[in-house]
Amino acid sequence: MLRKSAAFSAGLALLFNFGCGFAGAQSLPEDIVNALNKVSGVHPGFRANHAKGIVGQGTFKASPQAATLSKAAIFTGDAIPVTIRFSDSGGVPTVPDGSRLAMPHGLAIKFHLKDGSETDIVINSLKFFPVATGEDFRDLLLAVAASPPGAPKPTKLDLFFKTHPRAPLALGDQQQPDSFADEQYNGVDAFVFVDKSGKKQAFRYIAAPEKLVLISKEEAAKKSPNYLFDEIATRVAKAPVTFHLEAQLAAPGDVTKDPTIPWPANRKVVDLGVLTIDKIDADSLAEQKKLLFLPGALTSGIEESDDPLIDVRDGAYAVSYGRRSQ
Ligand code: HEM
Repeated sequence: MLRKSAAFSAGLALLFNFGCGFAGAQSLPEDIVNALNKVSGVHPGFRANHAKGIVGQGTFKASPQAATLSKAAIFTGDAIPVTIRFSDSGGVPTVPDGSRLAMPHGLAIKFHLKDGSETDIVINSLKFFPVATGEDFRDLLLAVAASPPGAPKPTKLDLFFKTHPRAPLALGDQQQPDSFADEQYNGVDAFVFVDKSGKKQAFRYIAAPEKLVLISKEEAAKKSPNYLFDEIATRVAKAPVTFHLEAQLAAPGDVTKDPTIPWPANRKVVDLGVLTIDKIDADSLAEQKKLLFLPGALTSGIEESDDPLIDVRDGAYAVSYGRRSQ
């Protein structure tokens, strides 16, 4: 299993940006980043998606159960330093936090391991993903870009939703929180734990808040444009924010390759440990430029499943990183 480091990612970014074999050839990740730019515009120096973000620091301390599922070094029970980034969705770095366009929100976690290596978790507030493949994600974005307010009916987006009925369900089932700290983030993509004996178990991550506080559309619209960012900085300055990192375990027969299908709610959920965020970086804007979180940056004991989105995401994040770093 290929494990991706930051150096690998930078290489991937270069490859996707400059390494196309012949003139005019474009990779799917490039097409996706171009489609994201069509929806949100190009904002130099910012991510093509989840452009508005805030960086913080903290620790992760695993529960004893975590080590029974996976031999990963993040599950030793030692306090592992982490860098986190909360974000609004979309490629517009000034999106108002209460806007519909700011959802889903993101939580990215980078674990700094004792041996100097890093491993990432990149999750968001969707309960399930609107589409199952990178091609469909590109086409969804192109349909959104081709369906501005006032576009003749049926719009391209109406037609896309007709052939992809999970998409409007995924995007419709969202509610704003009163804080980045009071929201649940879901892995959506499936990964696989490997324990010390080599036994494998498919799972999806959940980051569960201490309490879930959701507000109405009307309340969210009245909030200040940076309410989530201002609130999290003030809150963490007073006291650490904690989440329980959990794993929903797949039962035999549960499909791992389709992130549009949540597993039944009665599947076992294991507490993997506590994520504590005790600092928001004062120079968050500069810090986030240097950071690259990749869903496929894994450490031994955690592997990719057959979900095709994971590799597509790695490619698109690397393309976006390559462009925003120029
Ligand atoms: C085909 C599917 C997807 C594509 C193409 C895609 C694309 C992207 C891109 C291009 C970025 C900007 C990366 C950067 O510049 O560093 C991004 C960021 C992000 N994405 Fe996705 N995404 C996909 C699915 C998902 C899913 C399933 C989740 C969560 C379950 C997710 C959560 C996030 C988060 C949290 C960030 C911000 C990471 C950060 O803070 O640096 N994305 N995505």
